[in-house]
Amino acid sequence: MTNPATDARPVMELRNVSVAYHGDIRILQGLSLAVRPGQITGIIGPNGAGKSTALRTLYGLLKPIEGDVAVDGEVVTGMPPWRFIAKGIALVPQNRSLFNDLSVEDNLRLACWSFRRDKARVNGALERAYAQFPILHERRKQPAGKMSGGQQRFLELGRALALQPRVILLDEPTAMIAPRLSAEIYEFIATLPKQGITVVLVDQNVRQCVRISDHLYVLELGQNKVDGAKQDFAQDEQLRTLIAEWVDYRIDA
Ligand SMILES: Nc1ncnc2c1ncn2[C@@H]1O[C@H](COP(=O)(O)OP(=O)(O)OP(=O)(O)O)[C@@H](O)[C@H]1O
Ligand SMILES: [Mg+2]
Repeated sequence: MTNPATDARPVMELRNVSVAYHGDIRILQGLSLAVRPGQITGIIGPNGAGKSTALRTLYGLLKPIEGDVAVDGEVVTGMPPWRFIAKGIALVPQNRSLFNDLSVEDNLRLACWSFRRDKARVNGALERAYAQFPILHERRKQPAGKMSGGQQRFLELGRALALQPRVILLDEPTAMIAPRLSAEIYEFIATLPKQGITVVLVDQNVRQCVRISDHLYVLELGQNKVDGAKQDFAQDEQLRTLIAEWVDYRIDA
């Protein structure tokens, strides 16, 4: 039986990728994953499993020593990050990435640097960020570093989305953020596919990641442990048991 959602060509892939930070210490070892268009692909796994490394590799920040990175089925291994941006791929990294002393608006303007002379486009990007997160408009003149952790996360998301990406890579979007704001962020992420944005979500919050993902990859020691599509989560005994033991969370069909 064909399933258009899973049979569609992946927008991004890691194909048997190995990555080492120092010489021969391999952090990823033959990792493969595919990001299907219009879906939320969740990546979970214990601390140090290589989740952030996988995301950084997908975005060209790390170059594999083996294997390939592909975009739209085309091998792009070694392509620098700015060219990923040009291909409509945005990354919101795990660590804070704002200029704390600059205003909210200047942080957004900096994201528009490559088209800074196109005033209409810059204004469009600002308007989109403000429409998505009205709090950013309220705070637009304030230094980014003076906002709460959650509001800073909204700014990072707004900044990435202002550039109208087709794929957004999110690394621990709610780490260190108050539960109420976290819930709001997950609700927001869940709406992105409806806006035509494909999502890759790396998360320690297994419960929320499982809840909103269409396809899930579990990593362990830089390798694929198990993966499955949403409709398989509940049926896949290995995935179900693993997650139940891990976070005391039962996946329901
Ligand atoms: N810049 C670096 N230099 C050397 N080793 C690193 C570097 N960054 C990460 N590592 C190591 O690589 C391994 C995988 O790290 P990574 O950050 O990808 O894990 P993770 O799954 O994202 O973990 P966490 O859930 O804690 O964010 C870890 O053992 C880590 O110590
Ligand atoms: Mg990480």
